[in-house]
Amino acid sequence: MKRILIVGAGGQIGTELVPYLQKHYGYDNVVAADLRDDMVAKMSEMAITEKLDILDINAFEAVVKKYNIDAIFNMVALLSATGEKNPELAWKINMGALLNSLALAKEYKTALFTPSSIGAFGENTPHDDTPQDTVMRPNTIYGVCKVSGELLSDYYFTRFGVDTRSVRFPGIISNGALPGGGTTDYAVEVFYEVLKHKHYTCPIPPDTYMDMLYMPDALNAITQLMEADPTKLVHRNSFNITCMSFTPTQLFEKIKQRIPDAVFDYDVDPVKAQISASWPNKLDDTCAREEWGWNPQWDIDAMVDDMLDKISKKL
Ligand code: SER
Repeated sequence: MKRILIVGAGGQIGTELVPYLQKHYGYDNVVAADLRDDMVAKMSEMAITEKLDILDINAFEAVVKKYNIDAIFNMVALLSATGEKNPELAWKINMGALLNSLALAKEYKTALFTPSSIGAFGENTPHDDTPQDTVMRPNTIYGVCKVSGELLSDYYFTRFGVDTRSVRFPGIISNGALPGGGTTDYAVEVFYEVLKHKHYTCPIPPDTYMDMLYMPDALNAITQLMEADPTKLVHRNSFNITCMSFTPTQLFEKIKQRIPDAVFDYDVDPVKAQISASWPNKLDDTCAREEWGWNPQWDIDAMVDDMLDKISKKL
């Protein structure tokens, strides 16, 4: 990877991936693209920036050519809860972004990273120690896009030799840009609400386990996988990775240990409840550990300390 293009760079992962990749590959070798004007304006203060509608393949191709790109990071997606409000739009954006990325990766021989998700699994998947290779019949349009995307990416690899790689991200906890429209968003929102109002009302049922990852580990995962020796990769699209798994109750207990007067209650969102119940409790990430050395560093206590510290400074 020498010349990198990140599309959807203004989102939760993109805004932190851009400076991270700049640090590793050089400022001039990272191009940040997003559709939204406010994001483009914000990103242009810290990166080479392009306004780009990834669904417009001609505009996308022009950017790939202009910067002589050799690795595309496709971070464009409508997340799970938003997707349920408009499934046709979710399919159009999520699959359109991927299909155009694959076509250009094939044409210009670039590597391609596209995140998959715990959302690729569904009710019939074993929920505990969910294996790398198992039943994938998701119950959301987001998950349907992720499974289709995994298949399509593997197809482009085996059929055309396109260097496609991916991880199944759990909920990502971070203190930069906010996530939007996901089922795991509660695990970020709670920190802001507790620090501002000492009170958080949670939309997820109290005993629902979901896998989570702290952003520094997520950024490491992306570069580690993209730099991994291809001869060691038995899998490609996509690897289970995880770092922690907890319920809202368990997370709130950790926060309460640090902020004893914080108050938590629940107003369960039925759509999010159904989605979170259909997802794994905890993934088995042995293949990622064996094939490319996945080795996350953050546990729940270190993450909670760091989130409270960084967000209180920000507020
Ligand atoms: N964070 C995503 C969501 O909740 C899952 O990948 O939709």
